[in-house]
Amino acid sequence: MRVSRLLAGLFAEPVIAFEAREPIGPETLKEEEARYVGRAVPKRAAEFAAGRACARRALAELAIVDFALRVGPDREPLWPQGVTGSITHTAGFCGVAVARETEMASLGIDAERRGAVERRLWRQVATEREIRWLEGLPAARATDMASLVFSAKEAFFKCQFPLTREWLSFSDVSVSVESRALRLMPSRRLALEALMPAPWTGRYALRGPLVVTGFGLPPR
Ligand SMILES: CC(C)(COP(=O)(O)OP(=O)(O)OC[C@H]1O[C@@H](n2cnc3c(N)ncnc32)[C@H](O)[C@@H]1OP(=O)(O)O)[C@@H](O)C(=O)NCCC(=O)NCCS
Repeated sequence: MRVSRLLAGLFAEPVIAFEAREPIGPETLKEEEARYVGRAVPKRAAEFAAGRACARRALAELAIVDFALRVGPDREPLWPQGVTGSITHTAGFCGVAVARETEMASLGIDAERRGAVERRLWRQVATEREIRWLEGLPAARATDMASLVFSAKEAFFKCQFPLTREWLSFSDVSVSVESRALRLMPSRRLALEALMPAPWTGRYALRGPLVVTGFGLPPR
């Protein structure tokens, strides 16, 4: 496990981020956490454990030591009072980012394998406008960008959920990819708009086999 410049670089604000690319076993879980994966398949128990290990390491940087990160009713991690954070895992990678709520009201991160979203999946994750854009790109670029659109929506979902508790479908927001930023527009009225007007901006990086995305919302 190590400090993640890749994930911290997704935010302008001071964020603490750790990543693990090596397996971390479920024996590292605290008792209060282990019960959430008691009957899970080994792959799921391992990714859950890696997320908890990275989260504990990140929280220690905020002087919160040995924290048991429980799971909320909608699978969301229950961060300590005054802290916001997010967890992501994909094959060979687990990452966590945390920040004080005085710096950010909420944050969300996501990592995917480049090429994870094949052409046949576009209709499930992309809007008509996004599909038209993807279809105009060279094939390799389109593959990367489809994964990026998917990842951006997942990161945005994780960011807005703790504030609104609203479930979103992939057609509810539309992503524009700019050279250094992501811009998200709602396609229907979203609960988040009552707290923070759209568009919402995020950042992304394409690094090796991964695409990573992050959204942060300013303190209220
Ligand atoms: C929750 C969800 C976003 C997870 O994304 P994923 O790419 O499948 O998986 P990731 O590994 O990146 O993220 C999983 C982590 O997300 C976090 N998470 C799960 N539910 C969450 C929620 N409701 N709010 C915030 N974070 C949540 C958890 O920490 C989880 O890891 P853990 O179970 O080990 O703690 C996804 O499964 C989901 O349910 N999406 C809802 C539909 C959606 O995303 N729509 C997009 C519309 S904009």
